Formats: sequence, structure tokens, C-alpha cells
Amino acid sequence: MSSSTTSEESSQPGQATFRFRCIGCGTITGSAAQDFRCSDCSNLLEITDSSWNSNNPVALKSLWRERRTLNEALDLSGVWRFRELLPMPQSAEDVVTLREGNTPLYELPHSSRATGITRLYAKHQGMNPTGSFKDAGMTVAATFARQAGYKWVACASTGNTSASMAAYAARGGMRSLVLVPEGKISWSKLSQALDYGALTCQLRTDFDGCLRLLQALVKRAPVYQLNSINPFRLEGQKTLALELLEQLDWQPPDHIIVPGGNLGNSSAIGKALLEMLEIGLIGRLPKLSVIQAEGANALVRTLREAGGKHLVSVQAETQATAIRIGNPASWEKAVKVLQATGGACEQVSELEIAQAKAEIGAEGIGCEPASAVTLAGLKKLLKAGLVKPDETVVLVLTGSLLKDPDYTMSFHRGDLFRGTAQEQESLKLNSFRHSPVMIDATLDAVIKTLETAEKSDPTDSNA
Ligand code: F0G
Repeated sequence: MSSSTTSEESSQPGQATFRFRCIGCGTITGSAAQDFRCSDCSNLLEITDSSWNSNNPVALKSLWRERRTLNEALDLSGVWRFRELLPMPQSAEDVVTLREGNTPLYELPHSSRATGITRLYAKHQGMNPTGSFKDAGMTVAATFARQAGYKWVACASTGNTSASMAAYAARGGMRSLVLVPEGKISWSKLSQALDYGALTCQLRTDFDGCLRLLQALVKRAPVYQLNSINPFRLEGQKTLALELLEQLDWQPPDHIIVPGGNLGNSSAIGKALLEMLEIGLIGRLPKLSVIQAEGANALVRTLREAGGKHLVSVQAETQATAIRIGNPASWEKAVKVLQATGGACEQVSELEIAQAKAEIGAEGIGCEPASAVTLAGLKKLLKAGLVKPDETVVLVLTGSLLKDPDYTMSFHRGDLFRGTAQEQESLKLNSFRHSPVMIDATLDAVIKTLETAEKSDPTDSNA
């Protein structure tokens, strides 16, 4: 069992050798302690590799595209396909992969018409093996956990990290320990962790409480932590941006809009954009904007009330449980990428999230509530003039519609806001609801229902 992760042990002859760099004091080291914090100033670490810069951008683009036609395990992964910009393990045998990445980039014709933004896309990370963007990071971090010889990996989670970690641990022959807030994660995500064989602990606290416990645990027990504090996770999540740019033929969009919870994903995408610019893969930076739920708006408040200088944490509350986080670990990394790319940070209400989720569903793709903050946030940025209709905008949909069926059912049945302060106001969302119809099991009843629906079909111009 290794007590730390070192770059020396994970470099490959003839391949890039990475280092850990503290985002606070800039200290560069070859190894990281179990909590992935700087031993001098306790700030978070990121991975850096001077050899990444020496790559020829034109050659990289054609190499990455060519790999899409190959059948080697590493090439079939939409993450490891981009391995020239990733930390590499000693041996390809160590790589734990479930063919993650290579997710679709969809046009959103309905939302395009409604917002007037003609080039509006959704990068759907919910199409990953366990149904969320976490898989792109987990393949890299689980690989390094396995290489370091860990028997146990662990995470605190609002659900998706735990589902992903449990799956990759199972594939990599490791055991997994999950700490989740009791009653505050969807059954769908919890059931995934159980099926993949995780030791799952439901704690009487929130996500922030689970993460605090995990950080204390890794200092006492030989478990490898797989939260996004682990910089290998963020390296894998960088590939979302690489893949997106490849799908856009390396023409940078004007805006990328991403949900913000613990703020690992925004940090990873921002890091990728800055590296791409430095290497010459792109000629200009898209703006990266982060959207949070009003009730879990730590980054919004950190920027508005503290100018991004210190974290303003909050007691988080939102029905978008994936981002029910009040004390985001990667807030400093996220502030840096927002400032570097010129992006904005906005918050959206529970009603706005519910409407946006229904609208993304009506595009025939769907997503989980946390992902829908991107469309809700886009409308606000548009109104504020921070996004212009003639610009190219990409929404990052982080999780599948199937991740939170309770929320979806409750919305369509009209129960989502029952008994809340927004109950009255939520009636305006009735046109987005499609509640199930209970009818007799007769042909007449089905035909009558069909005819009634036909008369009220908003897409039928003869109606
Ligand atoms: N969207 C979904 C679907 C998520 O599951 C998360 C985070 C986020 C957005 C926010 O991403 O934390 O990188 O800012 N889920 C974590 C989890 C916290 O435990 O599954 P972030």
C-alpha cells in the first residue's frame, strides 16, 4: 500500500512525466499526500506537465480523430483517446475503463427558437456508462488508485460520484466506500452504488458533512479518496472540453455553460481550455459560465459579496440534489477559471430549473435537474446581455434524465411544489406537464383519449 501518489512511479518511459502544483503557493512536487493538499499551505493541488506544451497541435488533432476508428481499449475510451494531455500510468494494463466519453453534442431546436440563439448545443455527459460526467474523471483517478495498490477507494457524494466510483472500483478489482447524506440523494443513484457492490453509508448530515468526514478518514485509514479534490479526476474531466472542441471542428464556441456544485467540473473544463489555448489547439478562449441553484449559491455569493477572495459558504437547499452543496471544495479553482475566461456566475430558482428540465425533456434528450440549471441560467445571461443571440453556446448536461425519476414524476403529476411557497406560482408550469392518464382498458377509452390529445396538440396548426 502506498501512502502517497507519486509522479515518478506513474511516468512511462518516453512519455510525459507529470507533477503536482499547489494552486495557492505554486509549489511543485512529485508526490501528493492522501488528502491531495499542499503540505505548505493546505491549498488544493493540480496536475501539470511541461511536456504537454511540446505537442504539435495539428498532429494531435489528426491523431485523436484517427483513434476513433481503432479498437484498442485505450482508443475506444473518449478519455484515454486524448492521453497526450493526461497523466499516464506506468502500464496501459492498469487503466480502468468502461468506454467512457465520446458523448453526443446535440442541437436544441426548441430552445434555440425560444431563446433566439441559433447555434445552441447540449454536450450530454449523461450518456456516459453510469449516466453522468463523473465517469470521465473516474477512469483516470481509479487507474491511479489501482496503480498505487489501494484495496479501498472512497468518496462523499450527492449520488453521481458514488455511482461512478462504485462502478470503476468494481471494474478495477477494488472495494469502494460511499458516504452519502441520508434522504438527500435519488434512489436511482443509490441503487447504482449498491448494485456495483459499494459499502454504502447513509449519514445523518448533508454532503458537506460527508466530505468533512471523508477528509478526516483518509488521514487515518488506507483508503484512496476519489472526490474531485483528487486532481486525477479533474484531468479526466478535461476531456469533455477536448472532445467538444473536436466536435466543433476546433472552432471555439463563445460560451460554455456548466452547473456548479463542488466546482470540480467547471475547474476541469477551464483548465482544459487554458491548456488548449497555450498549446495552440484553439486560438481564443470561450467564456465559461457557472450556474447554481438559488438555494446552493456559494460561488455566486463568494463572487458578489467577497469579490472571489474568500469562500462564502451557505446552508444548501435545493430539489436539484446533485448540487445541494454549500461549501464547495474547488471554489478557488473555479474563481480562477471564471476570471481567466471572462465567464459569469448566475443563480436560478427552483421553478426556473423545473421549467428548463421539462424543456430539455421536450427536445427528446432529457437530463437530471442539476443539469437543467444550464438552460435556466442561459436565459438569465441572455436577458442581462452577457450572451448574445448570434453567439455559439454550449450547455453541459451533466446527468441523465433517468438519474432522478422521482423528481420527474413529481413534476409531471403536479406534486413537485405542493406545500411549498412556490405552489401558486408553479401553476404557470402546467403547460409543461404531461401527467399520466388513468383510463379503462377499452379501445373506446384509448381512442377518446387520443382524440382529446389531438385537439389540444400545440404543434398541430389545424387544431
Ligand atoms: N451536475 C450533476 C448531475 C452532478 O452530479 C454534480 C455534482 C454537478 C452537476 C456539479 O458538479 O460538483 O463538479 O461542480 N455531483 C457530485 C456528486 C458532487 O457527488 O455526485 P461539480
